Amino acid sequence: MSCSLRPLGLAQRARLEQLTRETGLFREEEVATAVELLDESLAGDDDYEFVGAFEGDRLLGYACWGATPGTLATSDLYWIVVDRTRQGSGFGSQLLHEVERLLMADGRRLVVVETSSRDDYHATRKFYEARGYTRTATIPGYYAPGDDLVIYTKDLATGDLARTAP
Ligand SMILES: CC(C)(COP(=O)(O)OP(=O)(O)OC[C@H]1O[C@@H](n2cnc3c(N)ncnc32)[C@H](O)[C@@H]1OP(=O)(O)O)[C@@H](O)C(=O)NCCC(=O)NCCS
Repeated sequence: MSCSLRPLGLAQRARLEQLTRETGLFREEEVATAVELLDESLAGDDDYEFVGAFEGDRLLGYACWGATPGTLATSDLYWIVVDRTRQGSGFGSQLLHEVERLLMADGRRLVVVETSSRDDYHATRKFYEARGYTRTATIPGYYAPGDDLVIYTKDLATGDLARTAP
């Protein structure tokens, strides 16, 4: 299914908050952080960039990324979220592909994604692995006892762009 990919504005602020909360994966504090990053981005802070997946005017998902301070052309993918009721329809792949396309156009190199080892992130980890991301590091107990930080990376100079689901 195809969607249109374009930047987010203030009009999508409440919807971004709703989408993030409704995944059921993030603590309220994390939901607030996603909204804060959008606010900072809209205020002109270029540490954070956003792209949205839209069906008409309706936001179905978004991604947020930024340059990793103190590195040579490494970037962090901070957020990628798709409407809970529309997951598995290719929107996440289209968003990831667009982020990678923009990063490559900007001469960026390594993409770093942090996620969790929890069972409820199993599908998320599969999503990255199927799109050329390598499980590079794990920090045991990072988020909480038994909840490890899992770091995925992809080198845009050598890896293929994330495939876009048909
Ligand atoms: C991870 C996420 C962004 C993927 O977006 P999506 O639109 O569901 O992904 P696509 O439809 O393009 O691709 C589906 C793939 O993702 C995986 N996937 C992840 N979550 C899924 C879900 N809830 N339903 C179906 N597939 C899901 C499947 O393994 C599938 O892999 P395959 O195509 O290789 O079979 C989305 O599921 C999501 O918002 N998850 C909750 C938030 C989250 O975990 N964000 C990342 C935080 S690190």
